Amino acid sequence: MRILTGIQPSGAPHLGNYFGYFKQNIELLGEEENLLMIADLHALTTMHDPDQLRQFRQDLSKDFLACGFDPSRGTLFFQSYVPEHTELAWILSCVTPMGLLERAVSYKDKMQQGLEANVGLFCYPVLQAADILIYDADVVPVGKDQQQHIEIARDIAIKFNNRYGKGTLVAPEPKISEAAVVPGIDGKKMSKSYGNTIPLFADETIVKKAIMSIVTDSKGVDDPKDPQECVIYQIHSLFLNDSEKKELAAKYRAGGLGYGDAKKMLFEAFMDEFGPMRERRAKLKDAEVEEVIIKGSTRARTIAGRTMERVRKAVGLR
Ligand code: TRP
Repeated sequence: MRILTGIQPSGAPHLGNYFGYFKQNIELLGEEENLLMIADLHALTTMHDPDQLRQFRQDLSKDFLACGFDPSRGTLFFQSYVPEHTELAWILSCVTPMGLLERAVSYKDKMQQGLEANVGLFCYPVLQAADILIYDADVVPVGKDQQQHIEIARDIAIKFNNRYGKGTLVAPEPKISEAAVVPGIDGKKMSKSYGNTIPLFADETIVKKAIMSIVTDSKGVDDPKDPQECVIYQIHSLFLNDSEKKELAAKYRAGGLGYGDAKKMLFEAFMDEFGPMRERRAKLKDAEVEEVIIKGSTRARTIAGRTMERVRKAVGLR
């Protein structure tokens, strides 16, 4: 069984990324063969500053290593270091009906956000299908927003197999993250585009400032508070097990816990969890990270090469 997932390098990771993506992908390590891909080719669809792309890609590699991605138990690599992805994407685009891509919601969303309508953005799901199919990935763990892309990859695999022979490509299953949506400091979904994040690796003062500015209502210290209605509690509970959650919820309900103190407790919980990761990240050397990526990309390329031999033969290029 093989698991593959991918993520675009998009700058400073935050609590929403951690609890929605990093954590479960790191926990999956070792059970099966795991591949974690940094999707730098996908990033080109919207990121046009070369220095920024290089920087974000390197930063994201560090973030994963700092958060506990163990390169001896999984493969961390750059998409562009395995050029076979683009070759497969072309071959797949020749079996992909226009209508399938026209129905993709991510393209429509991006047009609505006013992004430039380039062909790369339109063909984004075909490259993503190539990412998955080139590794014969059985399972693709992603957030809900990626579900349609995995379904498109499945459809493309099935179409390809119908034309060129059963079993040439493996149709993958999505594994949709069950993690709850992490609220941002304004109570909306935490997202860089809303500017409401709590970053994992920013300076301590910045983290503290973000936590201290979480929205609250105007209840006083002594008032009983409904924990489910409180953004501080919702974020804090991500760090807690069931009995700790109950205990904290009881404190909110009892009254006597002011929002200022509740935020300080959250800041402490944040530091307990991320302190060691922050230290680890600060010590990581660029050369060390590069070595992990080169090794990972070489390993990924070995698998991709085997699939491509099969695909080239199937379509008549060999
Ligand atoms: N489109 C995904 C995202 O934006 C990233 C991605 C690229 C991906 N290739 C993938 C995810 C392959 C899973 C499998 O989050």
